[in-house]
Amino acid sequence: MDTLRRVVREMAGYVPGEQPPVGAFIKLNTNENPYPPSPQVLEALRKEIEKGLNLYPDPLATSLRQTAARVYGVDAENIIVGNGSDDLLTIISRACIDSGDPVAMPTPTYTLYDTLVVLQEGIHHYFPFPPDFSLPAGIKNLGAKLTFLANPNSPSGTAVPVTQVEELARALPGILVVDEAYVDFAEETALPLVARYPNLVVLRTLSKSFSLAGLRIGLGFAHADLIHGFLKVKDSYNVNRLSMVAGCAALEDLPWMLANRDRIVRTRERLCQGLKALGYGVHLSRSNFVLSYRGAERQERVYRSLKERGILVRYFDAPGLENSLRITVGSDPMTDRLLEEMGSIVGGERA
Ligand SMILES: Cc1ncc(COP(=O)(O)O)c(C=O)c1O
Repeated sequence: MDTLRRVVREMAGYVPGEQPPVGAFIKLNTNENPYPPSPQVLEALRKEIEKGLNLYPDPLATSLRQTAARVYGVDAENIIVGNGSDDLLTIISRACIDSGDPVAMPTPTYTLYDTLVVLQEGIHHYFPFPPDFSLPAGIKNLGAKLTFLANPNSPSGTAVPVTQVEELARALPGILVVDEAYVDFAEETALPLVARYPNLVVLRTLSKSFSLAGLRIGLGFAHADLIHGFLKVKDSYNVNRLSMVAGCAALEDLPWMLANRDRIVRTRERLCQGLKALGYGVHLSRSNFVLSYRGAERQERVYRSLKERGILVRYFDAPGLENSLRITVGSDPMTDRLLEEMGSIVGGERA
């Protein structure tokens, strides 16, 4: 007898980026923030630990929902909190995708979406991005039950204008999930549209701009009816007590996050200029990473050489993403070291 479901036996499973021991590499492969979180976060964690951890957390994460509601100008009933936005993506898929349901997404994009569709036995429909990563024409015509749009997108780092996101929300009969994991590094957000489109879900994470990837805190914004359904599907205690107090403290100290965001956006420019000087092409990034390519040269070799020199970046070679490096924007010293090593690897070679 097969103990695993057929889809589970046959699927490859989502492969997360490499996570070596802390400090082992200059880590520019999974788009983390090089700067620490607000000191208020550390203080809140310390206080919560002193209270003891023997009791369960609030299953509805009320304090964090209320804080996020105040900070983002919505009602708490329009918010769900997740163990990272990955948890929210799982909850939404479980709540919305039945076996055989059509699910649309532009590609290349965050590959977890694919895994979740397979697990729900949905039918995925891929809409390849054009070379400029504008919104693929036709995605609105499928009549999908659910559509995923990472905006800014990963791994391209590019963003589609919110006016087009709005047109998509208006045109789609099903749910549109706009995954805004990187939006604090961009210029505009679809969040205000949640009040107008009952089929729209906007996801945020505290992993990137708020420097809290290690704590796993995601926020989902949607019409109260959708949130009500999502709450039925989530694990009872999906957000632990430390994440809850840390999330509140981080959201209360927006100036800290914004200052780090500004530094990263400045370093992004430095990284793009440096890459161009080495003969790389870069896509216009609205995120805290840059997707770069250099003619036909094998970037896998560059990725490996960088790793030998203690620097981790992410190598991609897939349809629409041929032979590219995705590089997280670190601090200025991390970026300078990266560019120096890349220069010595690709140096005298022609692009
Ligand atoms: C587009 C996108 N969405 C969601 C996530 C997951 O974020 P979290 O750490 O909140 O689970 C990532 C992580 O890299 C991402 O790139």
